Amino acid sequence: MHGFILTAIQRFVTAGFGTVAWFSILEEAGLGSKEYANHLHYPDEEVLKIVGAASKATGLPPGQIVESFGTFVGKDLFEIFRPLIDPSWRTLEFLLHTEETIHQVVRSRNTQAKPPTLVFSRVDDRSVLLEYGSARQLCALGKGIIRGVADCYEEGVEIVDQACMLQGDEECKILVTRK
Ligand code: HEM
Repeated sequence: MHGFILTAIQRFVTAGFGTVAWFSILEEAGLGSKEYANHLHYPDEEVLKIVGAASKATGLPPGQIVESFGTFVGKDLFEIFRPLIDPSWRTLEFLLHTEETIHQVVRSRNTQAKPPTLVFSRVDDRSVLLEYGSARQLCALGKGIIRGVADCYEEGVEIVDQACMLQGDEECKILVTRK
């Protein structure tokens, strides 16, 4: 996983629960006092271990933690990539362009980065459908990022799972409707 995601997890935990909580989560995850760097890549399992330890510490389900983190990091990613974002877009247009405007750029700038291939399609003027099929099965992260992006546009969105890999479906189908 891209180091930016790991350092963002650290900022997310530290902002919500403090530095001591971050180090005890790392300890509980069996990662000692590991330091993460934006320009490096780390095994996906480290993310899962950190989320598992955070879930144990807070009593919150892992999916809820990942989704909240997605909202947090989504706002950061939006700001960092603002130069690539067409000022005429709103939430749904942004989502429809994420694959070719953002994730492809991430891949070309860093050949080790493996963001998922996102297939967004327009359903009607208020809704888009996301088809997500990454082996990482991080649909909760995607839903959180979508909420973070909507927050940046000061728009509300309703997110409905029409299919989910975590429920045994082949891929996730996530309907996003602007309120
Ligand atoms: C400015 C916008 C965005 C940027 C800069 C961005 C960038 C990234 C980066 C760097 C990663 C890590 C890849 C790796 O570790 O190899 C990632 C992963 C991911 N992104 Fe994005 N992303 C953006 C928007 C979105 C949106 C709108 C979604 C909505 C579904 C999304 C869904 C995901 C998911 C689910 C992952 C986890 C990895 C996986 O599922 O395989 N991203 N993204």
